[in-house]
Amino acid sequence: MDLGLSNRTAFVAGASKGLGRATAHELAREGCSVALCSRDGDRIRTAAKAIRDDTGAEVLPLVCDVTDAEQVESAIAQTANTFGGLHVLVTNAGGPPSGAATELDPSDYRDAVELNLMSTISLCDAALPHLRMAAAEDDHARVIMVTSVSSKQPIPTLALSNTARAGVQGYAKSLADDLGPTGITVNTVLPGYTRTQRLEDLADEIQERTGQSRTEIEAGWADDNALPRIGEPDEFAATVAFLASARAGYVTGVAFPVDGGRSKHLL
Ligand SMILES: NC(=O)c1ccc[n+]([C@@H]2O[C@H](COP(=O)([O-])OP(=O)(O)OC[C@H]3O[C@@H](n4cnc5c(N)ncnc54)[C@H](OP(=O)(O)O)[C@@H]3O)[C@@H](O)[C@H]2O)c1
Repeated sequence: MDLGLSNRTAFVAGASKGLGRATAHELAREGCSVALCSRDGDRIRTAAKAIRDDTGAEVLPLVCDVTDAEQVESAIAQTANTFGGLHVLVTNAGGPPSGAATELDPSDYRDAVELNLMSTISLCDAALPHLRMAAAEDDHARVIMVTSVSSKQPIPTLALSNTARAGVQGYAKSLADDLGPTGITVNTVLPGYTRTQRLEDLADEIQERTGQSRTEIEAGWADDNALPRIGEPDEFAATVAFLASARAGYVTGVAFPVDGGRSKHLL
């Protein structure tokens, strides 16, 4: 299937590693010019070079902390200036620390909301003028938000993620309705347990707390899935690329799990 992504431009946040990096790589492979950001200059430049070398695409590395609205504004403006516009925005950041609801302070919740909800709003706010222009010229533009399977089915030890992601889902649904008439679609993609640094860090925390081995921890995650294994970042990225594509033109306001069948609800 031709996704119709060649000669389009994308901005992927939180993309020096993990799901963001795999997504930027996949979009570049499909023909997009891609800007990617993270906080660490060396890491983001290394990721950009690897993607450029592999795909031959135009790749722009940007240092930007997505919790800082001014940095976000500047990164999006640099992207639009460099590539002459913006068609696809992928919002993403690291995950908040683990912990049960009562173990955490209000300040922990504030930080998580800044990291996962407010960053999403800042990125959309900065990108929307460019996306509106792209949609007016080309009929469509795309917003895809990386959230978590915890948005649909909260995970007991991830209270911060459960709380902040719920806000992202509400924002996405509201934005999808507002932007529908412009041709901009808005969807969220919900990773289940996928092999990235974030998962390594979670496994370390669990190992320290419970004394379980890595094999036991991973088996515990995988066994709850219909497909009893951990996901790969490329599998997640392929779904984002489809939602970014011209072919996904009638899909908006959807929360799309890429979780190996972990979520057990009917809808
Ligand atoms: N992997 C999973 O199994 C899984 C499951 C459910 C949900 N998720 C969620 O999906 C998202 C991505 O997960 P991942 O596994 O890819 O995480 P990861 O491996 O920890 O990568 C996170 C990326 O975001 C960047 N980042 C972190 N904080 C940032 C900030 N404030 N501003 C800009 N960039 C920032 C990091 O780079 P720098 O350090 O250079 O900034 C890195 O490139 C997270 O929110 C995570 O909680 C992941």
